[in-house]
Amino acid sequence: MFERTRPHPARPGPGRLLAIWGTGGSPGCSATAAALAATVGRRAPGPVALLDGDLCRGGLTHLLGIAPGLTLGAALALPRRDDEPCAAECVDRRDWAWGRGAVRASLIPGEPGPGAPGEIDVDDLLALVDRLRAAHALVVVDVGDELPPRAGGEGHLALLARADALVVVAQDTAVGRHDFTLEYRLLRDRLAALNPTAPRRAVVNHMHGGHIAAWKREVLAPVQLELLTQVPHDWDGASRARARRAPLPVVDPGSPASAPLEEAGGRLAALLFG
Ligand SMILES: Nc1ncnc2c1ncn2[C@@H]1O[C@H](COP(=O)(O)OP(=O)(O)OP(=O)(O)O)[C@@H](O)[C@H]1O
Ligand SMILES: [Mg+2]
Repeated sequence: MFERTRPHPARPGPGRLLAIWGTGGSPGCSATAAALAATVGRRAPGPVALLDGDLCRGGLTHLLGIAPGLTLGAALALPRRDDEPCAAECVDRRDWAWGRGAVRASLIPGEPGPGAPGEIDVDDLLALVDRLRAAHALVVVDVGDELPPRAGGEGHLALLARADALVVVAQDTAVGRHDFTLEYRLLRDRLAALNPTAPRRAVVNHMHGGHIAAWKREVLAPVQLELLTQVPHDWDGASRARARRAPLPVVDPGSPASAPLEEAGGRLAALLFG
Protein backbone atom coordinates (compact mmCIF):
# COMPACT_ATOMS: atom_id res chain seq x y z
CA MET A 1 0.00 0.00 0.00
CA PHE A 2 1.10 3.56 -0.59
CA GLU A 3 1.13 6.19 2.05
CA ARG A 4 0.69 9.83 1.13
CA THR A 5 2.32 12.52 3.22
CA ARG A 6 -0.67 14.83 3.47
CA PRO A 7 -3.82 13.17 2.22
CA HIS A 8 -6.56 15.36 0.83
CA PRO A 9 -10.21 14.43 0.91
CA ALA A 10 -11.55 12.90 -2.28
CA ARG A 11 -12.43 15.72 -4.65
CA PRO A 12 -15.24 15.34 -7.15
CA GLY A 13 -14.82 16.23 -10.80
CA PRO A 14 -11.98 15.67 -13.24
CA GLY A 15 -8.35 15.59 -12.19
CA ARG A 16 -6.34 18.79 -12.23
CA LEU A 17 -4.08 19.59 -15.18
CA LEU A 18 -0.70 21.08 -14.32
CA ALA A 19 1.26 22.25 -17.38
CA ILE A 20 5.02 22.81 -17.28
CA TRP A 21 6.46 25.00 -20.02
CA GLY A 22 9.92 26.40 -20.55
CA THR A 23 11.59 28.49 -23.18
CA GLY A 24 14.01 26.98 -25.70
CA GLY A 25 17.58 26.18 -24.68
CA SER A 26 16.78 23.34 -22.26
CA PRO A 27 16.13 25.31 -19.08
CA GLY A 28 15.11 22.09 -17.31
CA CYS A 29 11.43 21.92 -18.18
CA SER A 30 11.24 18.12 -18.40
CA ALA A 31 13.27 17.54 -15.23
CA THR A 32 11.00 19.99 -13.41
CA ALA A 33 7.87 18.30 -14.78
CA ALA A 34 9.10 14.92 -13.52
CA ALA A 35 9.99 16.35 -10.12
CA LEU A 36 6.65 18.10 -9.70
CA ALA A 37 4.73 15.02 -10.81
CA ALA A 38 6.32 13.35 -7.79
CA THR A 39 6.14 16.15 -5.23
CA VAL A 40 2.68 17.47 -6.16
CA GLY A 41 1.56 13.93 -6.92
CA ARG A 42 2.20 12.62 -3.46
CA ARG A 43 -0.19 15.23 -2.11
CA ALA A 44 -2.88 14.49 -4.72
CA PRO A 45 -6.02 12.62 -3.73
CA GLY A 46 -5.46 9.81 -6.23
CA PRO A 47 -3.22 8.50 -9.03
CA VAL A 48 -1.02 10.68 -11.19
CA ALA A 49 -0.42 10.77 -14.94
CA LEU A 50 2.66 12.37 -16.47
CA LEU A 51 2.28 13.15 -20.17
CA ASP A 52 5.19 14.03 -22.42
CA GLY A 53 3.50 16.79 -24.40
CA ASP A 54 6.57 17.98 -26.28
CA LEU A 55 5.34 17.38 -29.82
CA CYS A 56 8.73 18.08 -31.40
CA ARG A 57 11.08 16.10 -29.19
CA GLY A 58 9.99 14.01 -26.25
CA GLY A 59 12.77 14.88 -23.83
CA LEU A 60 10.86 13.57 -20.81
CA THR A 61 10.58 10.23 -22.56
CA HIS A 62 14.37 10.10 -22.77
CA LEU A 63 14.96 11.48 -19.26
CA LEU A 64 12.74 8.87 -17.61
CA GLY A 65 13.77 6.10 -20.00
CA ILE A 66 10.28 5.21 -21.10
CA ALA A 67 10.38 1.87 -22.88
CA PRO A 68 11.54 2.26 -26.48
CA GLY A 69 8.80 1.93 -29.06
CA LEU A 70 6.14 3.70 -27.03
CA THR A 71 5.13 7.01 -28.57
CA LEU A 72 2.39 9.57 -28.12
CA GLY A 73 1.30 8.83 -31.69
CA ALA A 74 0.73 5.19 -30.72
CA ALA A 75 -1.13 6.25 -27.56
CA LEU A 76 -3.47 8.31 -29.74
CA ALA A 77 -3.90 5.76 -32.50
CA LEU A 78 -3.99 2.29 -30.96
CA PRO A 79 -7.38 0.80 -30.04
CA ARG A 80 -8.24 1.06 -26.34
CA ARG A 81 -10.85 -0.28 -23.97
CA ASP A 82 -13.71 2.12 -23.19
CA ASP A 83 -12.57 2.46 -19.58
CA GLU A 84 -8.91 3.22 -20.46
CA PRO A 85 -7.45 6.63 -21.41
CA CYS A 86 -5.31 4.86 -24.02
CA ALA A 87 -4.14 1.36 -24.86
CA ALA A 88 -2.54 -0.23 -21.79
CA GLU A 89 0.67 -1.06 -23.68
CA CYS A 90 1.24 2.69 -24.27
CA VAL A 91 1.44 3.46 -20.55
CA ASP A 92 4.66 3.02 -18.59
CA ARG A 93 3.65 2.52 -14.94
CA ARG A 94 6.01 3.60 -12.19
CA ASP A 95 5.91 3.44 -8.41
CA TRP A 96 7.92 6.21 -6.84
CA ALA A 97 8.48 5.77 -3.10
CA TRP A 98 10.76 7.95 -1.00
CA GLY A 99 10.83 9.08 2.60
CA ARG A 100 7.26 9.00 3.82
CA GLY A 101 5.80 9.57 0.37
CA ALA A 102 4.82 7.43 -2.56
CA VAL A 103 3.24 7.99 -5.91
CA ARG A 104 1.80 5.61 -8.45
CA ALA A 105 2.41 7.30 -11.79
CA SER A 106 1.34 6.49 -15.34
CA LEU A 107 3.78 7.88 -17.88
CA ILE A 108 2.49 8.58 -21.36
CA PRO A 109 5.37 8.82 -23.82
CA GLY A 110 6.09 11.62 -26.23
CA GLU A 111 7.52 11.80 -29.70
CA PRO A 112 11.11 10.55 -29.89
CA GLY A 113 12.02 13.38 -32.24
CA PRO A 114 13.09 15.31 -34.01
CA GLY A 115 9.40 14.73 -34.39
CA ALA A 116 6.69 15.18 -36.92
CA PRO A 117 4.24 17.35 -35.01
CA GLY A 118 1.93 17.56 -38.04
CA GLU A 119 1.02 13.94 -37.41
CA ILE A 120 -0.53 14.68 -34.02
CA ASP A 121 -4.14 15.82 -34.25
CA VAL A 122 -4.75 18.51 -31.65
CA ASP A 123 -8.35 17.44 -30.97
CA ASP A 124 -7.21 13.86 -30.44
CA LEU A 125 -4.52 15.09 -28.07
CA LEU A 126 -7.02 17.10 -26.00
CA ALA A 127 -9.40 14.14 -25.92
CA LEU A 128 -6.56 12.02 -24.50
CA VAL A 129 -5.91 14.68 -21.86
CA ASP A 130 -9.58 14.68 -20.89
CA ARG A 131 -9.60 10.89 -20.57
CA LEU A 132 -6.44 11.05 -18.45
CA ARG A 133 -8.09 13.65 -16.24
CA ALA A 134 -11.10 11.42 -15.80
CA ALA A 135 -8.88 8.58 -14.57
CA HIS A 136 -6.33 10.51 -12.44
CA ALA A 137 -6.41 13.09 -9.66
CA LEU A 138 -3.50 14.93 -11.25
CA VAL A 139 -2.23 15.11 -14.81
CA VAL A 140 1.15 16.77 -15.27
CA VAL A 141 2.06 17.65 -18.84
CA ASP A 142 5.54 18.57 -20.02
CA VAL A 143 4.82 21.00 -22.86
CA GLY A 144 7.29 21.67 -25.68
CA ASP A 145 8.60 25.21 -26.00
CA GLU A 146 7.47 25.91 -29.57
CA LEU A 147 4.52 28.25 -29.94
CA PRO A 148 2.50 29.07 -33.09
CA PRO A 149 3.35 29.59 -35.89
CA ARG A 150 6.24 27.16 -35.29
CA ALA A 151 5.62 23.47 -35.97
CA GLY A 152 4.01 21.80 -32.98
CA GLY A 153 2.99 25.17 -31.56
CA GLU A 154 -0.77 24.73 -31.92
CA GLY A 155 -0.70 21.52 -29.91
CA HIS A 156 1.50 23.05 -27.21
CA LEU A 157 -0.75 26.10 -26.96
CA ALA A 158 -3.86 23.92 -26.74
CA LEU A 159 -2.35 22.04 -23.78
CA LEU A 160 -1.44 25.29 -22.03
CA ALA A 161 -4.92 26.68 -22.68
CA ARG A 162 -6.46 23.65 -20.97
CA ALA A 163 -4.29 23.83 -17.81
CA ASP A 164 -5.59 24.51 -14.30
CA ALA A 165 -2.15 25.87 -13.35
CA LEU A 166 1.02 26.69 -15.30
CA VAL A 167 4.64 26.51 -14.23
CA VAL A 168 7.10 28.40 -16.41
CA VAL A 169 10.71 27.28 -16.17
CA ALA A 170 13.49 29.77 -16.77
CA GLN A 171 17.24 29.32 -16.70
CA ASP A 172 19.52 31.55 -14.68
CA THR A 173 21.98 32.36 -17.43
CA ALA A 174 22.30 35.46 -19.60
CA VAL A 175 20.76 33.68 -22.57
CA GLY A 176 18.12 32.05 -20.38
CA ARG A 177 17.04 35.40 -19.04
CA HIS A 178 16.96 36.89 -22.53
CA ASP A 179 14.94 33.97 -23.97
CA PHE A 180 12.54 34.05 -21.07
CA THR A 181 11.91 37.77 -21.43
CA LEU A 182 11.03 37.44 -25.11
CA GLU A 183 9.30 34.07 -25.21
CA TYR A 184 7.17 34.34 -22.09
CA ARG A 185 5.69 37.56 -23.45
CA LEU A 186 4.66 35.67 -26.57
CA LEU A 187 3.01 32.99 -24.47
CA ARG A 188 1.30 35.55 -22.28
CA ASP A 189 -0.17 37.28 -25.34
CA ARG A 190 -1.33 33.98 -26.78
CA LEU A 191 -2.99 32.90 -23.55
CA ALA A 192 -4.65 36.24 -22.84
CA ALA A 193 -7.88 35.09 -24.46
CA LEU A 194 -7.42 31.32 -24.14
CA ASN A 195 -6.57 30.89 -20.48
CA PRO A 196 -6.43 34.16 -18.56
CA THR A 197 -7.28 32.78 -15.12
CA ALA A 198 -5.17 29.70 -14.35
CA PRO A 199 -2.50 30.58 -11.77
CA ARG A 200 1.02 30.85 -13.20
CA ARG A 201 4.25 30.52 -11.33
CA ALA A 202 7.92 30.70 -12.32
CA VAL A 203 10.72 28.29 -11.48
CA VAL A 204 14.18 29.79 -11.94
CA ASN A 205 16.41 26.80 -12.55
CA HIS A 206 20.21 26.39 -12.55
CA MET A 207 20.28 29.28 -10.07
CA HIS A 208 23.80 30.25 -9.10
CA GLY A 209 24.34 33.03 -6.60
CA GLY A 210 21.96 35.09 -4.58
CA HIS A 211 20.44 37.42 -7.17
CA ILE A 212 16.89 36.09 -7.11
CA ALA A 213 15.70 39.55 -6.01
CA ALA A 214 16.91 40.93 -9.35
CA TRP A 215 15.03 38.18 -11.21
CA LYS A 216 11.85 39.04 -9.36
CA ARG A 217 12.22 42.78 -9.87
CA GLU A 218 13.59 42.91 -13.41
CA VAL A 219 12.20 39.82 -15.15
CA LEU A 220 9.16 38.41 -13.35
CA ALA A 221 7.41 41.52 -11.99
CA PRO A 222 7.13 43.26 -15.41
CA VAL A 223 5.10 40.26 -16.67
CA GLN A 224 3.18 39.81 -13.39
CA LEU A 225 4.67 36.39 -12.78
CA GLU A 226 5.06 35.14 -9.22
CA LEU A 227 8.15 33.13 -8.27
CA LEU A 228 7.35 29.58 -7.21
CA THR A 229 10.90 28.63 -6.36
CA GLN A 230 14.53 28.87 -7.36
CA VAL A 231 16.40 25.63 -7.98
CA PRO A 232 20.20 25.46 -7.78
CA HIS A 233 22.32 23.92 -10.46
CA ASP A 234 22.76 20.38 -9.15
CA TRP A 235 24.98 18.41 -11.47
CA ASP A 236 25.41 15.38 -9.20
CA GLY A 237 21.73 15.14 -8.32
CA ALA A 238 20.58 15.54 -11.93
CA SER A 239 23.11 12.91 -13.06
CA ARG A 240 21.88 10.42 -10.45
CA ALA A 241 18.27 11.09 -11.44
CA ARG A 242 19.07 10.48 -15.12
CA ALA A 243 20.94 7.28 -14.26
CA ARG A 244 18.00 6.00 -12.20
CA ARG A 245 15.41 7.29 -14.71
CA ALA A 246 13.30 8.82 -11.97
CA PRO A 247 12.55 12.30 -10.61
CA LEU A 248 15.35 13.86 -8.57
CA PRO A 249 13.37 14.28 -5.28
CA VAL A 250 12.56 10.55 -5.45
CA VAL A 251 16.12 9.45 -6.26
CA ASP A 252 17.88 11.77 -3.82
CA PRO A 253 15.71 13.77 -1.40
CA GLY A 254 18.86 15.23 0.19
CA SER A 255 20.23 16.69 -3.03
CA PRO A 256 20.38 20.53 -3.16
CA ALA A 257 17.70 20.82 -5.88
CA SER A 258 15.30 18.45 -4.11
CA ALA A 259 14.31 20.67 -1.17
CA PRO A 260 12.97 23.57 -3.29
CA LEU A 261 11.16 21.16 -5.61
CA GLU A 262 9.59 19.43 -2.61
CA GLU A 263 8.49 22.72 -1.11
CA ALA A 264 7.18 23.89 -4.50
CA GLY A 265 5.15 20.67 -4.71
CA GLY A 266 3.43 21.54 -1.45
CA ARG A 267 2.52 25.01 -2.61
CA LEU A 268 1.24 23.83 -5.98
CA ALA A 269 -0.82 21.10 -4.33
CA ALA A 270 -2.44 23.74 -2.13
CA LEU A 271 -3.27 25.76 -5.26
CA LEU A 272 -4.68 22.79 -7.13
CA PHE A 273 -6.43 20.81 -4.40
CA GLY A 274 -7.20 23.45 -1.80
N1 LIG B 1 18.99 22.20 -11.69
C1 LIG B 1 19.68 21.39 -12.51
N2 LIG B 1 20.97 21.11 -12.25
C2 LIG B 1 21.69 20.30 -13.07
N3 LIG B 1 21.20 19.72 -14.17
C3 LIG B 1 19.90 19.95 -14.48
C4 LIG B 1 19.07 20.79 -13.67
N4 LIG B 1 17.84 20.83 -14.24
C5 LIG B 1 17.91 20.06 -15.35
N5 LIG B 1 19.14 19.53 -15.50
C6 LIG B 1 19.63 18.65 -16.57
O1 LIG B 1 19.69 19.44 -17.76
C7 LIG B 1 19.37 18.64 -18.90
C8 LIG B 1 18.21 19.29 -19.66
O2 LIG B 1 17.07 19.27 -18.80
P1 LIG B 1 15.62 19.04 -19.36
O3 LIG B 1 15.60 17.89 -20.32
O4 LIG B 1 14.72 18.99 -18.22
O5 LIG B 1 15.44 20.41 -20.16
P2 LIG B 1 14.24 20.87 -21.12
O6 LIG B 1 14.02 22.30 -20.83
O7 LIG B 1 13.09 19.96 -20.98
O8 LIG B 1 14.94 20.71 -22.53
P3 LIG B 1 14.34 20.37 -23.99
O9 LIG B 1 14.44 21.67 -24.73
O10 LIG B 1 15.28 19.32 -24.53
O11 LIG B 1 12.93 19.86 -23.81
C9 LIG B 1 19.00 17.26 -18.39
O12 LIG B 1 20.11 16.43 -18.55
C10 LIG B 1 18.71 17.49 -16.90
O13 LIG B 1 19.02 16.34 -16.13
MG1 LIG C 1 12.00 18.88 -22.37
